Amino acid sequence: MIRLLPLLFVLLLAGAQAAPPKKAPAKAAAKPAAEAAPAAHASAAEEDKGKEINGVCAACHGEHGQGGKRGEYPRIAGQRAAYLKDQLKSFRARKRINIPMYPYTQERELPDEDIEAVSEYLAAIQLPTKWPEFKDTDDALTRLEAVEKVMIIPRAEGNIENGKTIYQKECHSCHGRDGRGRGKFPMLIGQYTNYLKKQADSYVKGERPHDEEGPVGILNKLSEKDIQDILAYLTAIQDPEK
Ligand code: HEC
Ligand code: HEC
Repeated sequence: MIRLLPLLFVLLLAGAQAAPPKKAPAKAAAKPAAEAAPAAHASAAEEDKGKEINGVCAACHGEHGQGGKRGEYPRIAGQRAAYLKDQLKSFRARKRINIPMYPYTQERELPDEDIEAVSEYLAAIQLPTKWPEFKDTDDALTRLEAVEKVMIIPRAEGNIENGKTIYQKECHSCHGRDGRGRGKFPMLIGQYTNYLKKQADSYVKGERPHDEEGPVGILNKLSEKDIQDILAYLTAIQDPEK
């Protein structure tokens, strides 16, 4: 832990630099009628706020919530808002262990209204689902950035048929037949395989509670191969065109 502290500090600084400057309070004061503004304005303000908070998150999760470092930082764009809120509250309460995010989820850093705003902002981001077409003039950085933003992640190895059978029997009721989740249940498609694998491992070990049934849940009933096959299946159905 001690060894992690300097790293956290550097990340904190990086985060602080990535954050756009706070709006001048004078501007708000000049607009006393803001509260009576029509709903459209209120949601635009909400969106601005979400975007501003996301400036801090972008240091790890990417400017568009696309994730980073091949899944060390999960993709959070387009994830279900209710799920994002749940997880942020759970990090804040330290029910879900996430050391890199502790400095950002403390009560004073992330009050409920900020959780609300950033979650809605991230949930509304639609990452492209097609590979970009490049012009000859596009440089390497432009290409890399465009590719990282695409929702599609590489195919994971495994038996897709077996994965499908188990997924459509054991997982679809919460995560949806198409893997897009529903209500507060997270979307699983389009998420980095190694991140999902890490989560599955921590569910199996009882480090992170999965469903409502307590420490021994549905994933404990599956073999490691079955879980890998499900992950392979999830990468096979991520293309919304199919
Ligand atoms: C210092 C890097 C860092 C910063 C900054 C950061 N995160 Fe994270 N975040 C992580 C890591 C690492 C994980 C994955 C933890 C794990 O493996 O369980 C994560 C996980 C998450 C998850 C869970 C995703 C899922 O599918 O369950 C959400 C939601 C999230 N972050 C939102 C945010 C938001 C919103 C912000 C800004 C307020 C933020 N993060 C800032 C590193 C960061
Ligand atoms: C009864 C509902 C339910 C069923 C069935 C279910 N899950 Fe989940 N799943 C959840 C909930 C709730 C969460 C979020 C848990 C939390 O709050 O940390 C979750 C989270 C996950 C995550 C982590 C997602 C992330 O972004 O961190 C993975 C991976 C996952 N489930 C895989 C599966 C697989 C594979 C199956 C089938 C074998 C399955 N789940 C069946 C409810 C369910």
